[in-house]
Amino acid sequence: MTRPASVSPRVRRARRRDRRVYTRAHPLLFALLAAVRGRAVVRLGRAVVVHDGAAYREALTRVPLDRTAAGTTGGAVRRLSSGGGLFDQEGAGHRATRRSIAQGLGADGVDRLRPVWRAVLERRLAPLRDGRPVELVALARELSGATVGALLDIPAAPEAVAGAAARAAALAVRDHLPGPRRPGTSRAAAEATARLEALLSPGDSDAGVRSALAVATVNTTVAALPRAVAWCADAGLWDQAADEELRPVLVGELLRVTAASPLLPRVAAEDAVLAGRPVRAGDRLLLVARHAVRAHRDAPDARDPAPAAVARLVFGAGPHSCPGARLAHAQLDDLLAALAPYRPVVVRSRVDRGAALPGWRSLTVRAGAVPPHAEAPR
Ligand code: HEM
Repeated sequence: MTRPASVSPRVRRARRRDRRVYTRAHPLLFALLAAVRGRAVVRLGRAVVVHDGAAYREALTRVPLDRTAAGTTGGAVRRLSSGGGLFDQEGAGHRATRRSIAQGLGADGVDRLRPVWRAVLERRLAPLRDGRPVELVALARELSGATVGALLDIPAAPEAVAGAAARAAALAVRDHLPGPRRPGTSRAAAEATARLEALLSPGDSDAGVRSALAVATVNTTVAALPRAVAWCADAGLWDQAADEELRPVLVGELLRVTAASPLLPRVAAEDAVLAGRPVRAGDRLLLVARHAVRAHRDAPDARDPAPAAVARLVFGAGPHSCPGARLAHAQLDDLLAALAPYRPVVVRSRVDRGAALPGWRSLTVRAGAVPPHAEAPR
């Protein structure tokens, strides 16, 4: 990867827009993490902030982690859900759950799900053909809700699934962030999770696993897809998106720079050593995926991509690494393929300040070009 010293105005514009999802929603946290990112690993009291890719991987694969501690993703899942699921599991139980979902998210599973989201793309992107705008957050919500419905084989409406998963995650994050919170947040978070579980698995003993899957799918997809398209449009990457060979590489690059799950809060279960420094049991580890993959430095470029081992870190590492990575790649690939002939431009973007993950509340695009063969998107 050899980046030019100067950055083009279009890349600067793309970066400026994308940074707003952090600076408008979490200005203090963003400023704090940016201020200390010059060092690979920084201790701030009992918190250890990890910016460097190698140290991030080491924290996820070598440091024993307390999967149920308060203030971690697993802790939130355990506290809110009736049975807990995946994020808070360990050992043989965790491996068994992973096996149970592997089929649905492997190559065959993704092929089986593909027609579901392609139908959403075809219908939702049709207005581009007539020069009308398309709202991509609504598209991503329906696409992810429909995908979860098909994955879990439930009849619930896609919008209802996406809405319930977004609300449960937003309240869970609010509930476990440090600092003051509105009275009733914990109760509201538990109620939102119960509603999601009832929607996904009425009477099912796997309720925790199913809701963990829905929350992980909906929130990352709704954050990642619109941000990736905005990057592509603002930075002028539609030529790469239109190229069958470059597009899969571009997909990896866009998933890297958008780092949909940009900060992994974890807690050390035992004393350990991380990047040569001591970590004590109970220390809070703030693993900054965005910095580990150099999203803040290296713009996406399919002709000069980051090494795959670095880009992959947005999906975590080790036994808990994201089982939905293949699905996320396939969905963004199809979305870019469908959009590329129209060379869309962003006409409006509004940050979602209340979402669990940094992203847009609305992102509207319209065609910037008439496709050579004006035909339906794939
Ligand atoms: C842009 C899209 C996505 C990103 C950036 C992302 C990122 C992540 C990250 C960072 C983790 C934690 C990994 C770790 O602790 O090492 C994770 C876990 C997980 N993800 Fe994703 N994810 C994405 C999409 C998806 C999708 C589409 C699904 C489901 C279809 C999914 C399901 C899960 C599940 C179930 C876990 C928990 C795994 C476990 O604890 O064993 N994710 N993801």
